[in-house]
Amino acid sequence: MKLLVTGGAGFIGSNFVRYWLAKYPGDYVVNFDVLTYSGNLENLAEIQNNPRYSFIKGDLRNMADVEAAMSGVDIVVHFAAETHVDRSLFAAGDFITSNILGTQILCEAAAKHHVTRFHYISTDEVYGELPLNSTQKFTQDTPFDPRNQYSASKASAEHFVRAYYHTHHLPITITNCTNNFGPYQHPEKFIPLFITNLLQGKKVPIYGDGLNIRDWLYVVDHCRAVDLVIRKGVIGKSYLVGAQHKEISNLELTHKLLKLLGKDDSSIEFVTDRPAHDHRYAVDWSKIAALGWQPEHDLDTWLAATVDWYKTHRDWWQRVKSGDYLKYYDRVYGHRS
Ligand SMILES: NC(=O)c1ccc[n+]([C@@H]2O[C@H](COP(=O)([O-])OP(=O)(O)OC[C@H]3O[C@@H](n4cnc5c(N)ncnc54)[C@H](O)[C@@H]3O)[C@@H](O)[C@H]2O)c1
Repeated sequence: MKLLVTGGAGFIGSNFVRYWLAKYPGDYVVNFDVLTYSGNLENLAEIQNNPRYSFIKGDLRNMADVEAAMSGVDIVVHFAAETHVDRSLFAAGDFITSNILGTQILCEAAAKHHVTRFHYISTDEVYGELPLNSTQKFTQDTPFDPRNQYSASKASAEHFVRAYYHTHHLPITITNCTNNFGPYQHPEKFIPLFITNLLQGKKVPIYGDGLNIRDWLYVVDHCRAVDLVIRKGVIGKSYLVGAQHKEISNLELTHKLLKLLGKDDSSIEFVTDRPAHDHRYAVDWSKIAALGWQPEHDLDTWLAATVDWYKTHRDWWQRVKSGDYLKYYDRVYGHRS
């Protein structure tokens, strides 16, 4: 089986490439990534010489790049996207071109090449927000209500993926996952930003009152969910993926990180809230549970493991924070085109 993984140099994509190569020794994985600021080939350094792995530097927005990568591909797993909500408020154009147009181009090429599966990685953020202090959860039937430029672009792309299922019989499946954490996440995102700031002796910026609720899933559980839906999911359907029913506020999560890193509340700095900061996410994942999935990694154990990973991979995140990681591509692959 040959997989085309888009965005394989990013956080979840790189964890997924490693996961798939280890689990399926007969399969071949092509990583297609344009290497934006959040794509980092160092994330896959230990497998770069694996004969079952190859990398193509290409842009989803360029049909010629995508067509060239599609040759002989059985399964497309589409992670590539602009992903940082904060950036989307001020650079919506990149989110529209990469996330919407890029997905449409990928669908077009995948349909033309008759892939056996097109799996789209979506997010629970397409459903908007839930009230604090409620027990409501998102389900597959919750109407889309994206409230920022990132989630609007992901929702729009999801509509295009479904349209290609209906019009071109593209054999799609979709997963809408909640927030992920784990190794190789870019230090602009909440958990790695806080860990690396604390390791650098800096303060951690909490938006607003910090009471927004999230449901954190360890990245390997997300990879397992995508794997299962590719193998057992019903074509044309989407599956919500959530954590172990332990919703937690950003402030509570911050206190866990402070404790793990031996710091106290004096390291907290409350900052002006982000506009339209979604209050609460919670996911009903009973549909994927019926396929045989449940999260295996609990928050406390794997948050501690993630803190340890950032402690022992200082070189990695210091290079990312300083921008030096961009030189890695030139070192390994020659000059950027
Ligand atoms: N991180 C989360 O908590 C989370 C939760 C649910 C869903 N998702 C979804 O999972 C996917 C991966 O998220 P992530 O956190 O790993 O993101 P990331 O920002 O770490 O990685 C995104 C990757 O996509 C690549 N990319 C961006 N634009 C591209 C283009 N035009 N052509 C080719 N490659 C391009 C980047 O270079 C990067 O390697 C995204 O689709 C995101 O919406 C993320």
